[in-house]
Amino acid sequence: MRLAVFASGNGSNFQAIAEAIQNEKFAELVVLITDKDCYALKRAESLGVDTFTFDRSKKRSEYELDVLEVLNKYEVDFIALAGYMNIVGKTLLNAYEGRIVNIHPSLLPKYRGLHAIERAFEAGDVEIGITIHYVDSGIDTGKIIAQDSIQRNNDSLEEVENRIHEIEHKLYVKTLKGLLK
Ligand code: GRF
Repeated sequence: MRLAVFASGNGSNFQAIAEAIQNEKFAELVVLITDKDCYALKRAESLGVDTFTFDRSKKRSEYELDVLEVLNKYEVDFIALAGYMNIVGKTLLNAYEGRIVNIHPSLLPKYRGLHAIERAFEAGDVEIGITIHYVDSGIDTGKIIAQDSIQRNNDSLEEVENRIHEIEHKLYVKTLKGLLK
C-alpha cells in the first residue's frame, strides 16, 4: 500500500510513521502533503520523503484538485492525517472514502476540535487520551478505529502533552500497520 501523510505543523507523528515504515517496510510512504511551510517539511527532507505544499489561498474545491493530482501521480492508496489543520472536502473524500484516517488527541467523542489536550487538562480529567478514526465530512466525527490513554497523575500540562505525543506515535504506527497490510 502506498501511503500519503498530510501535516500542517511539527510533524512528529509523520516522523514516527516514516521511521517505522523505513524500518519495518509495512507500506510505502510516498509523499508528505502540507498546506504551508512547516517543520514537518524539514523532517521529510532529512528522511528522504517527497513533499508537496498546496496553495491554501485557493478555495478548498480548487486546492483539493491540486492535491488529488499529486495523489494520483504518486498512486496513493491511503491517507493518514497527522496534525493536518484543515477540513477534508468533498473532492478528497469522494476519491478516498474509507481510506483516510486521522489522529486526534482526545478520547473522542470528547473534545472534538482544537486544543483538546488543554481542554481535558483544564476540565480536570484524570484519564486523558487519543483516538484514531476514519475521516468523514465532520470535525473529528468519523468512525473510531483505536484509542489509548494515560493517567494525568500530578503532571503539568506540558508533561501530559509530551506523554500524549509518545502514545500517539506508538498507536498511530500500530494502527497503520494493521490497516495497511
Ligand atoms: C497531534 O497531537 C495530533 O493528535 C493532532 O495534532 C498534533 C500533531 O502533532 N491532530 P505533530 O505535528 O504530529 O507533532
